[in-house]
Amino acid sequence: MDKNCSEKNGSGKNDGHRQISRRTGDLGTENAFVVLAEVNAMIAEGKPVLSFCIGQPDFDTPDNIREAAIRAIRDGHTGYTASAGIDRLREVVAEELGRVRGIAIDPADVVCGGGAKPFIGYAVLTLTDYGAGHEVLYPNPGFPIYESQIRVNGAVPVPLHLLEGRDFTFDPDDLRRKISEKTRLLILNTPHNPTGSILTPTDLAAIAEILADYPQVWVYADEIYSRLVYDGDFHSISSLAGMQERTIIADGISKTWAMTGWRLGYAVNKTLAPHFTRWVTNTESCASHITQWAGVEAISGNQDGAHAMKAAFEQRRELIVRLLNEVPGVSCKTPGGAFYVWPNVTEACAMVGAEDSEDFRRRLLHEAGIACLADIHFGSRVPGEGQHIRFSYAASNEAITRGITRMAEWVEEKSRR
Ligand SMILES: Cc1ncc(COP(=O)(O)O)c(C=O)c1O
Repeated sequence: MDKNCSEKNGSGKNDGHRQISRRTGDLGTENAFVVLAEVNAMIAEGKPVLSFCIGQPDFDTPDNIREAAIRAIRDGHTGYTASAGIDRLREVVAEELGRVRGIAIDPADVVCGGGAKPFIGYAVLTLTDYGAGHEVLYPNPGFPIYESQIRVNGAVPVPLHLLEGRDFTFDPDDLRRKISEKTRLLILNTPHNPTGSILTPTDLAAIAEILADYPQVWVYADEIYSRLVYDGDFHSISSLAGMQERTIIADGISKTWAMTGWRLGYAVNKTLAPHFTRWVTNTESCASHITQWAGVEAISGNQDGAHAMKAAFEQRRELIVRLLNEVPGVSCKTPGGAFYVWPNVTEACAMVGAEDSEDFRRRLLHEAGIACLADIHFGSRVPGEGQHIRFSYAASNEAITRGITRMAEWVEEKSRR
């Protein structure tokens, strides 16, 4: 692990008497939140900053969903629920996830929790033993909580490097080389944070073929961005023959319905549902009762709001990719989904005299007032792949145009010097 995705928090440090556990010292973080605090401090000081840091829609939750939550409060749906969630929510999740993937899902196999995020930890906890050398394969770059949860729960993180030449997917041969009898879990994320990449049916078939030789390996399919695919259909590994039983489908309401603060996600797997339910009982008790009823409306109610947001993201994707490719020294592939772009800034770094992508990001923030994240916030840099930064295009067209134009001017000005 390098300096990046885990802001180490003082492993084993103490105040003279009282110790903090080594385990807590291993806990990583999401640096999006750290950079956001830096950005907010600059804004509070009156500095003009355009932020493209955070992975959440900039829209309001659609009205019909907000009304459903208000109704839930009025109807007194305010107490604890069963840990796995209310029956109606589990039914609509099973129906929707099953329909999209062409598989039959029993509502009893659905477990709800306070976001999709907690299930990353529950999966690692349920499928690996602390310090036993159990390995977990995960995408790098990737959502930083994967590596954090693998590490803090005493498993061994094994990164699968995503390659620009493969549109930011991993080479199945890399998986073949790294998977072994020690592997317990393979984490997949499509569409992908931070690159926006998509696992195609060909990729998924190649992965499933390799997994056939390793029946002990579970798959964690993080499909939180599954409804934000812009070119063609979404494909899940759970749809392939023999894969549903060994796959945990993880999804939630945060991204599609602009509900990041409502906190509801769910995981689906027949064998693991009782175990995940017990983890929920031990940690959160249940997801917010009110949010669960809002979730029923989000998933099964009118979809006009969700469709309008998706259309806006798709249009912004075109805009930001076009503008980034006009910035000197920057090249940006068109991502297939989510709301992130992952431009290559290797040449731009050289032009402005930045040491690396993190130096570039910091200077872009302090000298040009443009906030984004660097590749090292999502794992260790992939050897030979150069320097990348991440923009979230959950921002208005106007902000995107102003921000990327300002970035181009900054690169030009610094290069002239
Ligand atoms: C890949 C990925 N998985 C999971 C999550 C967590 O989502 P939730 O808000 O449902 O906890 C995120 C949020 O940024 C994400 O990007």
